[in-house]
Amino acid sequence: FNAAVRDLVTLELAAQGFRVLVSDLYAMNFRANSTQDDIIGDLRNPTLFQYGEETMCAWMEGRLSDDIQAEQRKVEEFPLYWFSVPAIMKGWMDRVLTQGFAFSLEKMYNNGIFKDKKAMLSFTTGATQTMFQPDGINGDINIALWPLQNGTLHFCGFQVLAPQIFWGPAHCPAAVRTMMLDGWRARLKGLLAEKPLTFAPCELFDLSFQGGFLLRPEVREERESQPYGITTGHHLGKPLPPDNQIRAPPASEEREEPGRSS
Ligand SMILES: *[C@@H]1O[C@H](CO)[C@@H](O)[C@H](O)[C@H]1NC(C)=O
Ligand SMILES: *[C@@H]1O[C@H](CO)[C@@H](O)[C@H](O)[C@H]1NC(C)=O
Repeated sequence: FNAAVRDLVTLELAAQGFRVLVSDLYAMNFRANSTQDDIIGDLRNPTLFQYGEETMCAWMEGRLSDDIQAEQRKVEEFPLYWFSVPAIMKGWMDRVLTQGFAFSLEKMYNNGIFKDKKAMLSFTTGATQTMFQPDGINGDINIALWPLQNGTLHFCGFQVLAPQIFWGPAHCPAAVRTMMLDGWRARLKGLLAEKPLTFAPCELFDLSFQGGFLLRPEVREERESQPYGITTGHHLGKPLPPDNQIRAPPASEEREEPGRSS
């Protein structure tokens, strides 16, 4: 089914005039572990191997392994979509999203390196939709998506579009799966006009070590009267803003504070 989803997006976006690049990590036999083999040439500090530091230097000097460089060229050219994160996909993130290339302390979130690009998760679940409701057995899907969407994609600056979730296709009759693909095709037609999800902009925080990178006091005070937290992660001990990680706010709320999505 995921292959059908991929084939459809490839065809549909090509029909819209876009050039589509696919990274099939299994077919590429992409290596998932992050090791010294990711660096060509000598290490800065061979006695204490620090992957982040070493790969950042290697990236600056064009000494990252060829497979990483090839994927980084694709990231620079295109937003990617991600099916899910089996080990090989996580390995892709660990190795391709190099410090310096994809993020730095100065450039993150809404000021991140890829802030002019869009990214979107597309994946299937084994579970049904109700199992991922706040009162379902698996708990709120918004929480499951937070580390990927905030911690990886938005952290690198990407504008994150609402995820495409195919709920439990393995348990559906073929006719329902066909309907799912029809819905996907319809969504793709307007995909690039979609508004991204809301995250808390950096400007709400005191971005200094003295300030602890904490929410600015006046912002915190202002939120006191609001019924919900700002985002799934920045909940401030309040109820989570409903569906913060799976729906963009309606256009009428465009000018309002982040996190007021419904
Ligand atoms: C990393 O993965 C490669 C191929 O998948 C394997 O040959 C190599 O031994 C692994 N390295 C480590 C340190 O596990
Ligand atoms: C969002 O992701 C970043 C990067 O991984 C992380 O440092 C930050 O703590 C996350 N925010 C929340 C509120 O979890």
